[in-house]
Amino acid sequence: QLFLTACAEQDLAPKGPRRRQNRSEEKLAIQEGPFANCPDTDFSLPANREWLAWNLEPAIPVLDTALRSAADVEEALLAATSSPWPQTSQSERARLLRQAAVELGNSRGQLIAIMNKEAKKAPAEGDVEVSEAIDFANYYAHSFSDPAWQDGLAHEAIGPVVITPPWNFPCAIPCGGILAALAAGNPVIIKPAPEVIATARVMVDALWRAGIPRDALQFLPLPDNEIGQSLITDPRVAAVILTGSSLTADLFLGWRPDLRLFAETSGKNSLVITSAADPDLAIKDLVKSAFGHSGQKCSAASIALVERSLLEKTSFLTRLKDATESLKVGPATDPASIVTPLVQEPSPDLLRGLTQLDEGESWLVEPKVDENDPCLWSPGIRTGVKAGSWIHRSELFGPVLAIIPFDTLEEAVTIQNDTGFGLTGGIHSLDPVEIASWREKVEVGNAYLNRSITGAIVQRQPFGGWKNSSLGPGGKAGGPNYVSQFITPRSPSLPK
Ligand code: SER
Repeated sequence: QLFLTACAEQDLAPKGPRRRQNRSEEKLAIQEGPFANCPDTDFSLPANREWLAWNLEPAIPVLDTALRSAADVEEALLAATSSPWPQTSQSERARLLRQAAVELGNSRGQLIAIMNKEAKKAPAEGDVEVSEAIDFANYYAHSFSDPAWQDGLAHEAIGPVVITPPWNFPCAIPCGGILAALAAGNPVIIKPAPEVIATARVMVDALWRAGIPRDALQFLPLPDNEIGQSLITDPRVAAVILTGSSLTADLFLGWRPDLRLFAETSGKNSLVITSAADPDLAIKDLVKSAFGHSGQKCSAASIALVERSLLEKTSFLTRLKDATESLKVGPATDPASIVTPLVQEPSPDLLRGLTQLDEGESWLVEPKVDENDPCLWSPGIRTGVKAGSWIHRSELFGPVLAIIPFDTLEEAVTIQNDTGFGLTGGIHSLDPVEIASWREKVEVGNAYLNRSITGAIVQRQPFGGWKNSSLGPGGKAGGPNYVSQFITPRSPSLPK
């Protein structure tokens, strides 16, 4: 039984004797020296599966997830504006970020468990998020300590930063925003998504345990009504980092036109598969990109652009159908489930995508809803989809993939670019000429070659979109320019 109980502020006590803090045999230590990505858990090892099972047991943190009031907003803003955090040295901030990486690692099992319960995340998907959060901590500490930062410029903090993260990546995305803003010297207020408040709380607790002061990082769950609005519109808030829909970004800017908004918004992403691809690799990556976390990723593939000769001459569709039908659909509580329940019942658009075909379309795999759970849908694949059709340009955020055939690569890239969005996109081809031509023309922030189009890796694939997928200066999360967006550089007045 999971209790999400309103109660007095309290830290999470370490779990009872049966809960291991770390993955099997793992020793967590501060990362010194060059940045290195944190490895995900290898669940093929029996010891790690046992560790996971223990963590998924319903042992129960009592978390302070109660929604706060207008008076709490005022109190948080007062604490943020008077916080001494901007005066801490860069080396102290970097030290705390590195310690935060250790504490996030110590909370890995607990974070996987709470994401499993709250966001219905399959454990392997939650595990990757924890690794990404750890990478953000080590990477921002590292990039921030780089000599380029000591180049004679003073770096002034911009002021209190509010983080409004999404429910689909409830650990990594808020953690990345928090740590970047903190690294730049800004006090932070996180307003978690209402669906995943407990996950945010476990993550924030890890950062507090690392030594990040409570006035520098405040946890403020608010309702999405005029109380939440009052935080966004308060002039003491210097900037907002939003990950959410384009509609939410427009709403914020409608409330406060001068808002300094750093927004990652919607996407409509596709993977091009040419006849020069290795079909088995392409199918593996397509299925992962389309149906991981039941398609609820802004980076997910919802269109496959497949060269007509590949569709017609090989068993491509049969293999794609088999691969999709082999995904285990089930409750998040079953660690074997790959396709888990949606966080919310399908929106009208997603329901249309899951149930109604347009003219000329047919089901390669027809989605089915579980008779006991209206959120649990098996994946669907539509064929015969036309460029310019409704589904070509509608973000659905669920487990439904549309296949659009093409004859030339030029036609494929035109269809890929013609959505208004520009978040992720990919190509599967073993022909270097095709790859070079595609790279030049594709209009997305994250262009992937011969891999899945979800799961950006910190430092290797800094994440962020173009066109209608992003608003603001466009620094990429997990990349070299991200933290510097949250400072004002100033030349100190040195004597001549
Ligand atoms: N960073 C995530 C991914 O790459 C999306 O937010 O899938």
